[in-house]
Amino acid sequence: MSNNFILFSGAGTRSMKDIIVIANWKMNSTARDANSFFRSFIPRLAEIQGLASKRIVVCPPFTALHACHRAISSTRLQLGAQDMYFEDKGAFTGEISAEMLKESGVKFVLAGHSERRHILGETDETINKKVLAILKNSMVPVLCVGEKLEEREKGLAKKIVGDQLKGCLKGITNDSLPKVIVAYEPVWAIGTGKNATSNEAEEMHSFIRNSLVKMFSKQSGNKVYILYGGSVNRGNAAEFSKMPNINGLLVGGASLDAGHFAEIISLA
Ligand code: PGA
Repeated sequence: MSNNFILFSGAGTRSMKDIIVIANWKMNSTARDANSFFRSFIPRLAEIQGLASKRIVVCPPFTALHACHRAISSTRLQLGAQDMYFEDKGAFTGEISAEMLKESGVKFVLAGHSERRHILGETDETINKKVLAILKNSMVPVLCVGEKLEEREKGLAKKIVGDQLKGCLKGITNDSLPKVIVAYEPVWAIGTGKNATSNEAEEMHSFIRNSLVKMFSKQSGNKVYILYGGSVNRGNAAEFSKMPNINGLLVGGASLDAGHFAEIISLA
């Protein structure tokens, strides 16, 4: 069970100072690209300010997991996967299991990324099964939630995010909630260059925090890391990180460049 606690130095306690920065490479980077990324990125780690209180996770495509695992083995970087199937094994052509990910050194798994919801048709029900399966396998689920532009314009952003939290966290116990990371990623901000303002993000993060406290308990809701994602870059990383309920960042496009990603981590 120890994997569950890799994030939490005490037994499940979120330190108010610690932050988590996750790179989501999406369908970019072969194993060869990943090796060249780390050749440039690892030497930069020493220059990152406040590195001791920052946890850095890289989520490459499945085919680059082994190469990444080898490349980061003597560093404090951790490995994540972009998705996982909820069944243990069997006739599920094209899917990947928890066991396969663990064998590749994975400790974190994204669940319900908006591209999986909106391009690949994943529902809250499927995502819920994935979150439960990730926890059952002692890895950390990074549950992604976020509204579309038309939903925000209709004033429905909080309702959508609240419903996603309820649907995707069904069956999670008070004890296991702090082992889940939540990432707020407004769909309209992903890959568009139009990030939410830090105040817009903080408003949603504080809504997420309050919802978790209501759905579970004050104690466990307050322990959850809530990350912001959506067009994070060197220009806005510091702003987000100042907000009280933003406990880290999920970085897509800008994490593919070793120099940019190192700078974002420094600023976070
Ligand atoms: P972006 O992607 O930083 O390229 O907007 C974020 C994400 O989808 O996780």
